Amino acid sequence: MTRSVVCGFGSALPRRVVTNEELQKLVDTSDSWIQQRTGIKQRYIAGEGETTASLGEAAARAALANAGLSPDDIDLIVVATSTPDNTFPATAVNIQHRLGMNHGFAFDMQAVCSGFVYAVTTADNFIRAGRAKRVLVIGAETFSRLLDWTDRTTCVLFGDGAGAIILEAADDAAAGDRGIIAASLRSDGAHCEKLYVDGGVSTTGDIGHLRMQGREVFKHAVGMITDVIVAAFDEAGITADELDWLVPHQANRRIIEGSAKKLGIPMEKVVVTVDQHANTSAASIPLALAAAAGDGRIKRGDTVMLEAMGGGFTWGAVLLRW
Ligand code: ACO
Repeated sequence: MTRSVVCGFGSALPRRVVTNEELQKLVDTSDSWIQQRTGIKQRYIAGEGETTASLGEAAARAALANAGLSPDDIDLIVVATSTPDNTFPATAVNIQHRLGMNHGFAFDMQAVCSGFVYAVTTADNFIRAGRAKRVLVIGAETFSRLLDWTDRTTCVLFGDGAGAIILEAADDAAAGDRGIIAASLRSDGAHCEKLYVDGGVSTTGDIGHLRMQGREVFKHAVGMITDVIVAAFDEAGITADELDWLVPHQANRRIIEGSAKKLGIPMEKVVVTVDQHANTSAASIPLALAAAAGDGRIKRGDTVMLEAMGGGFTWGAVLLRW
């Protein structure tokens, strides 16, 4: 049987760091409020010339270098984003061109903060169906460009960035026990007004701004996240005790801690980057993966759970052996 094995990872962040103190000059907020409610200390904000595609390209190049591969070795690019450079063509095609690739195929996926989990599951399906051999899976966002910078309830929460992994087809003998083991995806559009953008091509004709009922999102988050994690554990026939690392979507430290506690996973096994990156939507999981694999915490063969929940609502989990 063919499986999808991670063979490279990388990430990229904008040049400019914006601290909580800097935001105090913009809106009526404080470093202590932001840290207490969210765990966020700073975020990276895209500047002149930095876009979702440029950050995605940089993350892709880092992942290719990490894997010892070139763009010639890739036959599919999937980009998870809700902040594309253009309405069309897809940011994935833009990145394909930036990488000098004119073979294979590329497309975007839109599942907001759950985008990376959806993209990894989709890439895994292409590989297991024999339709792709090596897939660049990228999560890239410039949420700063969707924010209402006068709204303190949302503008302090988000940041920009990109991360990427490369998934490679391997048969059972080559994979050993590595590869993607299980996945669980969910969505429910009944919750759309709790977290959405109040604009769009087919409605207002402009980009709009992110709007969120924070408390409502918070109320649903832990239950939804833990449900899909349990579904992935059940599919794989393993328990939380066997997990080496939980790599959650980085929205809020309290949501991360609440989910880990409910599952009985100690915080020592949880990768947390929300303090440094804030919420980078579809980029947050691959940014966290690159941080923890880059500094040697996540090692080859480790059992890793990825999870996310976001606008829609969408939510999902992917279980893999690194
Ligand atoms: N600085 C200072 N005060 C603020 C700020 C701010 N930036 N934002 C809101 N407040 C005030 C509010 O106006 C309110 O004041 P009031 O009591 O006088 O009316 C007070 O703080 C409490 O506001 P709440 O919204 O009730 O605060 P809460 O404890 O719920 O924290 C937060 C807000 C951090 C948004 C929280 O609800 C949350 O994290 N929700 C999840 C949202 C999220 O993470 N979304 C990301 C996308 S979805 C996902 O990725 C899971």
